Amino acid sequence: MQLGSIPRVHLGEFPTPLQELKNLSRELGGPRIFIKRDDMTGLGLGGNKLRKLEYALADAQAQGATAVITVGGPQSNHVRLTAAACNKLGLKSVLVIRGLLPEKPTGNLLIDHILGPSEIHYVGADGFPSKGELDRVADEKAEEIAETLRSQGEVPYFIPNGCRSIHGAMGYSSCVLEMVGQFRERQLAPTAVFSAVGTTSTYTGLILGAHLFTQDQLRVIGISVANPSETVRERAIRQLDEALSTFELGSSISPEAVVALDQYVGDGYAIPTPAMKEAVLLTAQTEGILLDPVYTGKTMAGLIDQVRQGAFSKEDIVTLLHTGGAPALFADTQSDTFIE
Ligand SMILES: Cc1ncc(COP(=O)(O)O)c(C=O)c1O
Repeated sequence: MQLGSIPRVHLGEFPTPLQELKNLSRELGGPRIFIKRDDMTGLGLGGNKLRKLEYALADAQAQGATAVITVGGPQSNHVRLTAAACNKLGLKSVLVIRGLLPEKPTGNLLIDHILGPSEIHYVGADGFPSKGELDRVADEKAEEIAETLRSQGEVPYFIPNGCRSIHGAMGYSSCVLEMVGQFRERQLAPTAVFSAVGTTSTYTGLILGAHLFTQDQLRVIGISVANPSETVRERAIRQLDEALSTFELGSSISPEAVVALDQYVGDGYAIPTPAMKEAVLLTAQTEGILLDPVYTGKTMAGLIDQVRQGAFSKEDIVTLLHTGGAPALFADTQSDTFIE
């Protein structure tokens, strides 16, 4: 199966800009640093999910879906962009939020309400023993909603949090092709790209793209924002196997290409770290570019630390994939993070 022949709907503005961060590079005294602006994909305030949703929603349309159900946390960028994309395509959207409705929704959750999905459900209560338990309750709720929709004559389509990995592999392998072309126009070849790793599929797609379009010359460095490196690696290798067999590619990807660092997570998912704060402030104050506190802030913290540790030479060309998420800066909790 050829990547170019897979059905895709138009949601985002591509190619996204590739910009050089000269001030930041000078400040760090290391390699040339670039940023791939997937926060500027446009629709619904943009972000990495649109590249995946272009494939997921084409699949939904092919299956005759009339309503899309998805799940995520109150500050989920995925949920926001799914709601925006459904509005553009004239599909109903049903959002299952893992958490309670706060008195004043802020950040992504405020935008979810402005986008006006067909339904928003909140699942959760104080005292849920674990995130795993909350995930299970949210998935059960999504199944229950799908049943109700079917009984009303709708055709529901479920998109898991972060999209199915195969849609991520499609979206982000083509992002590598786009980015490598932009470097080629400047007569440059990128050495490494840093990407946040949440549900893993952006990272998997980048590794696949680096394999297909740079013969593994581009190193993809995943910065985990939640899970231990080993969990990320296992998931990525499984997702790569699925992608290679879906695209009927005979080749294999060396496990050495799967490099995921977990030392920038700190105390856990979405919990601020001093290095994240430094990275967000430094990028904003040297370049005027806003990262987010959950994903790209920690990823830039990883990039900065690796540069400071001397992992790259002056000849290297290092890129941060800006996967979006800045609406989370407007979540009520963030002023405590950034203002002393
Ligand atoms: C802004 C942002 N960056 C990065 C990621 C990570 O992408 P993935 O879930 O494909 O690992 C996400 C979502 O999880 C996100 O919302």
